[in-house]
Amino acid sequence: MSESDNSALNFPKRFLWGAATSAHQVEGGNHNQWTVWELENAKTKSVQAEYHINEFPNWEHIKHEAKSANNYVSDKLADHYNRYDEDFALLKQMDMNAYRFSIEWSRVEPREGVWDAAAIDHYREYVMSLKRLGIEPIVTLFHFSLPVWFAEMGGFEKRSNVRYFVRFAEKIIGELGTNVRTIITINEPEVYATESYHYQAWPPAKHSNYLWWRVVNNMAYAHKRVAKSLHAMNRRYKISIAKNSVYFYAGDNAWLSRASAAVMQYFQDDYFVKKFIKHCDFLGVNYYQSERVYGYRIHNPTDKVSDIQWTLAPADLQYVLERLHQKYNKPIIITENGLADSEDENRQWWIIQSLIAMQRAMKNGVELRGYLHWSLIDNFEWAYGKWPRFGLASIDYKTGDRALRPSARWFGRIIKKIRSA
Ligand code: BGC
Repeated sequence: MSESDNSALNFPKRFLWGAATSAHQVEGGNHNQWTVWELENAKTKSVQAEYHINEFPNWEHIKHEAKSANNYVSDKLADHYNRYDEDFALLKQMDMNAYRFSIEWSRVEPREGVWDAAAIDHYREYVMSLKRLGIEPIVTLFHFSLPVWFAEMGGFEKRSNVRYFVRFAEKIIGELGTNVRTIITINEPEVYATESYHYQAWPPAKHSNYLWWRVVNNMAYAHKRVAKSLHAMNRRYKISIAKNSVYFYAGDNAWLSRASAAVMQYFQDDYFVKKFIKHCDFLGVNYYQSERVYGYRIHNPTDKVSDIQWTLAPADLQYVLERLHQKYNKPIIITENGLADSEDENRQWWIIQSLIAMQRAMKNGVELRGYLHWSLIDNFEWAYGKWPRFGLASIDYKTGDRALRPSARWFGRIIKKIRSA
């Protein structure tokens, strides 16, 4: 599909075209469980980079950054907390009409039971700025960062702690009122539990199957409680989690490959989705990767990978959407989709493939309501730090300058055509 040939693209008038970020990854100046952990681990991570990620495709290019402790400390980042107006202007430049972001709980409630009026005002003004620009705000309440006090009392490990999250959700949504309509309670609960309680890659870096199981189930309970409570405030809120979905497929026709792919798919999606879906008005889907299964092993094609070595298979988004639609029959918003691509070599191709995949899925009955690209701007990629570049806009961390990458300018022109058709 070239720029002049987008005749095949036909999306509903009210389709949400946008991009996504999360507070800790872009705001800068936070103090939460992650910031504490970053400071404790930055030095070790900088030393380990040489051994852990030296096979990444652009190692020569990134090694200087990856071997510096500063890369693993979020610090000021894009200073989005103060410069959000500039970032909203980028959305406008791309003719987008939606934006997903998260509220940093540790700013709103820096100590247990103490609300920070200035932080609440900030987020109110933030949402109002979006509204004034005609951009639909999509709010995430938990996107991997927790207040230190909540983490110290055991975070989501304890069922009795869920009430603090519910109270925070009620408080901030109560303050934002009907200026927000679409709410993601929890971003990728299974990814959070697995990175934090299995791989030990994220705080609190524990390794315990029991805690993993407890966190997943407590998050499902937290989602249910928040959804019920917010719906009691306003039945019209549209609430979901953002579920990370990976597409598993058999690489050959062998019985074992097909059976393994089906089992892996079940434990990737259904095991979790079943716990949440009853209390979702739609399903938020994050898609980045698919996995090819031979026998009981994963063996992916290596022809196209991102800067963090994820296999690039954007067209499989179609199958992810169709499968989730067939199983759960809910409207879907793609709440994240994108790639780490510092040279902007593959992003335009990725977006084209994703648009085609979406279009096909819709033709096959998927009720798709929106597409939010990850990410609006370069950001802090958790355990990898700052060097992976996911942004439609690049950030120069020295000057704070932001600029749309060529693929983003192209995407903006496509969105404009689709929206004015
Ligand atoms: C997360 C983002 C992250 C992105 C790329 C998603 O799983 O929600 O926070 O930056 O993937 O790794």
